Amino acid sequence: MSAAQPLRVGVIGLGYWGPKLVRNLAEIPGVTLAALCDLSEERLDTVGRPYPSVHCTTDFRRILADPDIDAVVIATPIRTHYRLAMAALLQQKHVLVEKPLTASAEEADMLVEAADVARRVLMVGHTFQYNPAVDELRRLVHSGELGHVYYIDAARLNLGLFQRDINVIWDLAPHDISILLHILDARPLSVSAHGGAHVLDGVDDLAHLSLRFPGNVTAHVRLSWLDPCKVRRVTVVGNRRMAVFDDTAEQKLHIYDRRVALRELEGDGGPAFEYHDGDVVTPFVDPVEPLRREVEHFLSCIRTGASPVSGGRIGADVVRILEAIDASRRQQGRWMDVDSPAGGQDASVRPAALAPRTPHPARLSNGMLLTGGGD
Ligand SMILES: NC(=O)c1ccc[n+]([C@@H]2O[C@H](COP(=O)([O-])OP(=O)(O)OC[C@H]3O[C@@H](n4cnc5c(N)ncnc54)[C@H](O)[C@@H]3O)[C@@H](O)[C@H]2O)c1
Repeated sequence: MSAAQPLRVGVIGLGYWGPKLVRNLAEIPGVTLAALCDLSEERLDTVGRPYPSVHCTTDFRRILADPDIDAVVIATPIRTHYRLAMAALLQQKHVLVEKPLTASAEEADMLVEAADVARRVLMVGHTFQYNPAVDELRRLVHSGELGHVYYIDAARLNLGLFQRDINVIWDLAPHDISILLHILDARPLSVSAHGGAHVLDGVDDLAHLSLRFPGNVTAHVRLSWLDPCKVRRVTVVGNRRMAVFDDTAEQKLHIYDRRVALRELEGDGGPAFEYHDGDVVTPFVDPVEPLRREVEHFLSCIRTGASPVSGGRIGADVVRILEAIDASRRQQGRWMDVDSPAGGQDASVRPAALAPRTPHPARLSNGMLLTGGGD
């Protein structure tokens, strides 16, 4: 595929989030929004109206069968991700799936393998990994500017949006887990969670998570659909400085030159606390829309074969962590080890998009046949 040739992309799922992906795809140069799909005729009509030349369908198989479509973006409910993404990979499409990648780690591993065999990009929409403020937090941690990280505290609270088929952990925690993995560059060793269902029986609308990372770093995450105030905040507390990312604020990142140290008092006075209260710095953060960066990155990975920042293997890691958290919640907060992924390197990394098509049908370990075809 030459760089001059526009990529042709279809979007499946046009509910709350899908239209934002559609808008970005329609605005980005070098890509053609080629098809839209939703089970609801009404959503198709509403979302498709500004794009009269785009093919609209209620049947995703028509998009997958179109040999001129290079890639699909899937923004449907989580329970459908595996089936749609696997069908797309089996038709040799590049795939961007909304978070979380799948409803189980087993499904996620199968998608990673299918993408590997098909030599197609599999990327998950961990939008915060494309947020420049989160990149800056990562830089602050890795450069040592914050010092040794004591702990990270995250809060994601609001009134709604309530879901019927998934709890607040599967809905909101993918954001915070992907932020933690991104800024710490590590996976948690063990997790513990408590939840509460106040509105709909059996569907937790409140959860408190604890995650233990290597190096004695802990993270605490509060999630709620039942809070009067919208909060989207991550606080990183180091022994030299502290940083706060507030996604609801105009100035999203603040670095506090604040710390406390212990000083031994003479005699029997015991330790004394010494507080340091210095400047608060607000670094420049590129105001680019993170979703725009995410979609551009997906298209760039297709063109260049680069490894997605949020590839299938990281998507599977996040799902594995979600499973451990949910298991802990069901066991009243028992600490659960997080299983290691089955494979080694991120297998969702594709060689260049120009890599040869699968020349012969290939069989995946679950027995599915990868037929080639597609484009
Ligand atoms: N990255 C983010 O910040 C972010 C924010 C919100 C939602 N999301 C994710 O986006 C996805 C969708 O969430 P939403 O809130 O838009 O859900 P939604 O329920 O509002 O919309 C889902 C749409 O998918 C359609 N659909 C379902 N099955 C389909 C099928 N087989 N073929 C075609 N269309 C189908 C439904 O008709 C519906 O219109 C979820 O994975 C969610 O976690 C991500």
